[in-house]
Amino acid sequence: MNTKKMILAVVFFTMVSSNLLFSQRQTWSETKEQKAQRMGWWTNDRFGMFIHWGIYALPARHEWVKQRERIPDEAYQKYFDHFNPDLYNPEEWAAKARKAGMKYVVLTTKHHDGFCLWDSKHTDFKVTNTPYKKDLVKPFVDAFRAEGIRIGFYYSLIDWHHPHFTYDNIHPNGPRDAEERKKANENRNMDIYRQYMKDQLTELLTQFGQIDELFLDFSYPGENGKGHQDWKSEELLALVRKLQPNVLVNNRMDLDHTDWGWDFITPEQFMPQEWPTVRGERVPWETCQTFSGSWGYNRDEYTWKSTHQLIVMLIETVSKGGNLLLNVGPTARGVFDDRANERLDGIGEWMRFHSRSIYGCTQVPDEYKTPQNCLMTYNPETHRLYIHVLEWPFKSLHLPGLKDKIEYAQLLHDASEIKFYSQTQSGSHTVETSKENDIILNLPVERPNTDVPVIELILK
Ligand code: GLC
Repeated sequence: MNTKKMILAVVFFTMVSSNLLFSQRQTWSETKEQKAQRMGWWTNDRFGMFIHWGIYALPARHEWVKQRERIPDEAYQKYFDHFNPDLYNPEEWAAKARKAGMKYVVLTTKHHDGFCLWDSKHTDFKVTNTPYKKDLVKPFVDAFRAEGIRIGFYYSLIDWHHPHFTYDNIHPNGPRDAEERKKANENRNMDIYRQYMKDQLTELLTQFGQIDELFLDFSYPGENGKGHQDWKSEELLALVRKLQPNVLVNNRMDLDHTDWGWDFITPEQFMPQEWPTVRGERVPWETCQTFSGSWGYNRDEYTWKSTHQLIVMLIETVSKGGNLLLNVGPTARGVFDDRANERLDGIGEWMRFHSRSIYGCTQVPDEYKTPQNCLMTYNPETHRLYIHVLEWPFKSLHLPGLKDKIEYAQLLHDASEIKFYSQTQSGSHTVETSKENDIILNLPVERPNTDVPVIELILK
């Protein structure tokens, strides 16, 4: 081939490959309005159940037990060999979630240990090869859909079982020495693992109907870590969008530097101080939280949050425009333990009377000031404000700047009227006065008998 043809060939190849790269980067483009519409159900529903379940429920001491205790495959195998959740009844789980007021659910289909809860054709490390012998995912999806709960899948990008997932900084079984690790990784081909992920995500996103949320987990870019180049995240996302165009995808494929590579951000195990922003803009966010610290069932963990703390966590999340994905770690018998059930029941009792202050709500407009010891939410459709009173004050609550803006006020749990007035002139030593544009809510002295009392303000 003469030089001229060679140059033309190189130019042509460069154009094709860069365009291919560019097109992969442009696999997804939608307007802000289209994205808001696609996320509408999620923004309204606010509250979901996370479920971390797998063979790590047998050791019952955290889903990272293999990593924390550096358990080799051969020793971890005993949990596979004894996994038989004979009491598994997803209808029970779904009923619990509905009663707790949870509108969507996210199930770990494969966690970092690589164990698959469905009959994947691409691995033997799956539930149908355990003593349980049956797929867990289809019955799960059917049961939760029957309760009107939307379906989400968690899928771990990390896989400590797959023979071609290269050893890195957190892999429990790889050599610690850098040179030895490098040598061991010569026998591991990440192209094969990336294809495995594509094949499995194809199974998950085509065999179980509409999937509403996809929670991929997690990237740890940098030396000896794994980021978007290791996952080929653009290709993975293109596949996901092709198979389930309406699915909402979280932000853990290490595509945070883009505005198309994620739908919502996912702070976890802490409460953001304010509505999180990315590049200066408030963004959709879902905080995932545990009852006790551990995601998987942890028998001996005693750092369990109280029901009150969990209810306040839900309210505070929505008051900052976010979603709460609250996690349950079922036991290896296939049931929610009593500590989880107690909290789900308590949350459900509160939500029975107060879900109006959660569903369809968000952060109050900036002009409204939140009273002391309260959290506020706002429904922009119904034009109603909700005051969640964390410490019941004596007799009155002052609302700054709301004079002449309220049509009616009531306690939400029993719809009993709350009278309100403004009183700028002091009449006598027993008359409470308000500032010029404030109003005073006249509260019963006795705190209402509900976990967090809520006052509903119907605005004019
Ligand atoms: C962290 C943990 C993982 C858990 C996830 C939930 O990534 O490593 O075990 O599944 O948080 O968001």
